[in-house]
Amino acid sequence: ITAGPTREAIDPVRYLSNHSSGKMGYALASACAAAGADVSLISGPVGLQAPERVTLHRVTSAEEMCAAALSLADDADCFIGAAAVADYRPAAVSGEKIKKQNGRGLSLDLVENPDIVATVAQLPNRPRIVAGFAAETHDLLSHARTKRLRKGLDMVIANDISAPETTFGSDQNAVHLITAEKETRLALASKYVIAEHIVTALATRLSE
Ligand code: C5P
Repeated sequence: ITAGPTREAIDPVRYLSNHSSGKMGYALASACAAAGADVSLISGPVGLQAPERVTLHRVTSAEEMCAAALSLADDADCFIGAAAVADYRPAAVSGEKIKKQNGRGLSLDLVENPDIVATVAQLPNRPRIVAGFAAETHDLLSHARTKRLRKGLDMVIANDISAPETTFGSDQNAVHLITAEKETRLALASKYVIAEHIVTALATRLSE
């Protein structure tokens, strides 16, 4: 399971990142462990305690998260990408603190990060189930369906982040579980309760 944001260094004191709290990924890790799974949680920087009975791998950047995911996905039955991975990173990291430009603007050149969940889904010996999230502000279901196909995922968990009760940092969530066969709506509940439903759905697929 990947969780939390990634941080992409600009210089020794600055980075690009996002508002991910990691709560959904950590709740999933707890619920998977409670269901008896052997869980590796690859986490970006968050202010959360490691869940019990979960092996925590701390990373900072998307490239570090990708390397950890590729080494751990090898013998996993299931991979869940719950991290809010930065899509871009600075093309070059300045070794020194960048100084103000005397009133002139500053441009950063960005390059695309690897898509971790899509890379895992394309591995020759991929985990039997690869699931990811789609956090959207509009056209939730159509974006999520497209994302599932484009990334080669078995399940997409679609999350409306335009509503205050289900946005980044909230303790609650309301999602749609989207597979090739069906779409299920999970009404507003704690992230742990949502995680338990997701784990049940994944376990059912694994046993099929
Ligand atoms: O394309 P988008 O970022 O909306 O896709 C979200 C899903 O893809 C999440 O499951 C997220 O963890 C995963 N992702 C990833 N690597 C990226 C970008 C997103 O694994 N570089």
